[in-house]
Amino acid sequence: MEQLPLSQVYRLLEPGPVVLLTTKGKNRANVMTLSWHMMVEFEPPLVACVVSNGDHSFTALKATRQCVIAVPAKHLAAKVVAVGNCSGRDVDKFATIGLTPVPAALVAPPLVAECFANLECKVVDMRLVNKYNLFVLEVLKAWTDSNQPDPKTIHHQGYGTFVVDGETIRLPSKMP
Ligand SMILES: Cc1cc2nc3c(=O)[nH]c(=O)nc-3n(C[C@H](O)[C@H](O)[C@H](O)COP(=O)(O)O)c2cc1C
Repeated sequence: MEQLPLSQVYRLLEPGPVVLLTTKGKNRANVMTLSWHMMVEFEPPLVACVVSNGDHSFTALKATRQCVIAVPAKHLAAKVVAVGNCSGRDVDKFATIGLTPVPAALVAPPLVAECFANLECKVVDMRLVNKYNLFVLEVLKAWTDSNQPDPKTIHHQGYGTFVVDGETIRLPSKMP
């Protein structure tokens, strides 16, 4: 994987793709599906995400303050849905669903080899966790996979319905 300039991270998440979030608690690494996230700052890249306190990942994220956000392309859609419909409390999702954990450089949770982008993150603000299960993450390191040059991400419309990225259009705009 090649490094992605951190100044470009916001372009990965602004469209709001469905992503995977990995954590590493006391036991094995875990992964969950996440679509409630948003960019908060360009650089250092800050991302807000809602991780429900019912999720096994919530406990590990709150305790370790580290995670990886991995962005899957369309060919992983079935696995992404499977990950979001079971709990790491009960199963080793990497083994049972067939995703490959790869050691990260700066954090304990793993990257996901099959995803075209991986963002190593630390939790920098938990003031809205009790009220909204909302964590603010800082992206410490970003990786992309040049073997997936034109990834199509998926966008959740609820209950297993997803929109897949379509055509790219260009318009005159001053906004980064
Ligand atoms: C498409 C999709 C999007 C999801 N988005 C979120 C989300 O934004 N936040 C959340 O807390 N759970 C979300 N979930 C549900 C979790 O992924 C699910 O509860 C999962 O089982 C949690 O795993 P865990 O118990 O191993 O942490 C989503 C599930 C799917 C299928």
